[in-house]
Amino acid sequence: MPGLWKSTQSGFYVRGTRIMVARIRSYYLVYFISAFAAITGLLFGYDTGVISGAILFIRKDFQLTSMMTGVTVSAVLLGAFLGSSISGKMTDEIGRRKALVIVSLIFVIGTFMTAVAPNDKFLILGRAILGMAIGIGSSTAPLYLAEIAPSNIRGFLVSLNQLAITLGIILAYVIDYIFAEKGDWRWMLGFGVLPAVILFLGTFFLPESPRWMVYKGMLKEAEENLKNIRASEDVTREMTEIKQGIQENRGTWRLLFSKKLRPIMFISLGLAFFQQVTGINTIIYYAPTILQQAGFSEATTAILATLAIGIFNVVFTIVALPLIDRWGRRPLLLMGLGGMCISLVAQSIAFYFPELAYLRWLTVGSMIFYIACFAMSLGPIMWLVISEIFPLEIRGIGISVAVSCCWAFNMLVALTLLTLIDAVGISGTFWLYASLCVLGVLFVYFLVPETKGCSLEQIERNLRAGKAPRELGIAIGRKKFMPTPVGGSLETQTEAVAAE
Ligand code: BGC
Repeated sequence: MPGLWKSTQSGFYVRGTRIMVARIRSYYLVYFISAFAAITGLLFGYDTGVISGAILFIRKDFQLTSMMTGVTVSAVLLGAFLGSSISGKMTDEIGRRKALVIVSLIFVIGTFMTAVAPNDKFLILGRAILGMAIGIGSSTAPLYLAEIAPSNIRGFLVSLNQLAITLGIILAYVIDYIFAEKGDWRWMLGFGVLPAVILFLGTFFLPESPRWMVYKGMLKEAEENLKNIRASEDVTREMTEIKQGIQENRGTWRLLFSKKLRPIMFISLGLAFFQQVTGINTIIYYAPTILQQAGFSEATTAILATLAIGIFNVVFTIVALPLIDRWGRRPLLLMGLGGMCISLVAQSIAFYFPELAYLRWLTVGSMIFYIACFAMSLGPIMWLVISEIFPLEIRGIGISVAVSCCWAFNMLVALTLLTLIDAVGISGTFWLYASLCVLGVLFVYFLVPETKGCSLEQIERNLRAGKAPRELGIAIGRKKFMPTPVGGSLETQTEAVAAE
């Protein structure tokens, strides 16, 4: 299915009509398509974030016990785990674009259910359905973006999804704040229907991934789609590379856990593990509580802190976007994890000496530093690397397994946090997260490949040639961050290096 649009030299049109949608030419088209697909990330951020404000009022309205409050909040995580587990087969069978259509529909249904819920059971069901959409979407969007992106700007385009997640979290805080005065939790939850409908309409204009089409044997359509996405008639070299990458094997679970793919699986699960167990969601969602414990007792401080953390998350994700393709994935991951470790140790020290009031400023400073480091490393790069390193025939299920584990680790952290604080205190909990950051540094240093500028097919060829995990990508330096024409010099450089 080529999608509803057709590009021409002067812009692009709704297929079969004379309606011109926009005069977006040349390489900017791929940015536009990617930004649309990234709305999935916005919904991910919004629906995971909005509950923190809404739950205060839901709890009162439905007279929720502590246990039911916990279930209402975490139903999304469970749904996301289930959704991402089924997403692999789904995206491989029906295609990446159709999967996004289904995701947007489930978002609309789930949001509607939560907004009109007559009782707590219905609300929990609605939240679980929303979670399914988040789960399928969080595997499909990075996969789709990686497959349509030219290699030299793949880091930037896939990470738009992470930027959208951070914007979604901020949007949720703002909407919570607006409706908090009247305690209108139904509007807080219901607002999410707006981006969901925009995503649904947008999916009709999205082209199917040419890589998936080649995988399904639709060579002619794949070529036409690639020409549209690249806004260029000359896609022969890229098409040949994609076709050559296709193996006889079909994606099966056995293949996924085969000896050859085990290192890839290990790298993906490891990145998902470290993204969650180094405490990101403890910092994001418990910022007010942490700051109150550190000595800032006023409620306004708590609200401001939450907002500030959200804003820093967005700002540093924007800073990271061009650097991911310029500096590469590994340097950012190593620096980010190192910085997160330092900031967690600093917070741990501040909590160890509660009598020293001035140390509370250390807590504030290190929380900001922590979020900046996460936003420039594990935040975007986990999603990016897991969507780059699986071979095409197994990419759908590979990402699906990695993402469902990410959601499982997310749940693990949420469920163990209070018990951990009871057992070893806040200071001890931060020490634990800091030591996991050290393990993360070693993991990245020894295992994670640098995939900057390397085509997805080259990564596959390296894997087939039996290269060590760290050498699966070929590093290519970029002089200047500019949207270079697709099929241009960098891909040629990739081939030249590969040939050596
Ligand atoms: C993580 C989420 C986190 C968010 C914060 C995502 O990449 O998967 O768990 O809440 O980043 O920006």
